[in-house]
Amino acid sequence: MVSMSTDEEASQTSSPSSSSSSSSSSPPTLHFIGMKEDIVRARRVTKLVNGCRDVLVLYHQGQLYGMDMRCYHSGGALQDGDIEEFNGRLCIVCPWHKYKITLAEGEGLYQAVENPTVRPLRTRWCSKGVKQRIHKVTEINGEVFITLNDSSEPTESDVYQTEKYRTVSVNVQSKPKSRKL
Ligand code: FES
Repeated sequence: MVSMSTDEEASQTSSPSSSSSSSSSSPPTLHFIGMKEDIVRARRVTKLVNGCRDVLVLYHQGQLYGMDMRCYHSGGALQDGDIEEFNGRLCIVCPWHKYKITLAEGEGLYQAVENPTVRPLRTRWCSKGVKQRIHKVTEINGEVFITLNDSSEPTESDVYQTEKYRTVSVNVQSKPKSRKL
């Protein structure tokens, strides 16, 4: 799958009408990711935001989603994952060990056996809870921004937001044009 990456980053302060889930009283900061038409074309864009967070913005079925770029399980490259629906929920499937992460909430999904003593085995989908940090994506006049989720609640994907993992190769196939706002 096509992905774009750049470490160039621009940001602007949002207007009150584009507020996010930020818990501070100051307006949330919107970080420019790229032009929507470019993201729609590429489907996935990875970017270092605010010099501290690698995020993945992806476009699927008319919707934009934002999340930490590396899988909460072991730092897998989610930008290379397939998107599939499980139990009616859209997930990205990590290419490394096939963990399933819901696009909208960052929940880890798994299949549990209902009763191991009963044949044939029957399974059902369960949630591990939120494992991947999700970030809010906003489109303004064809420009796409992300607002970092600054919740103090730890999320497992936080572990992979370090320089050590930042050196893990990112599949760079093309770069979006950068814009200073
Ligand atoms: S790193 Fe993603 S499933 Fe293991």
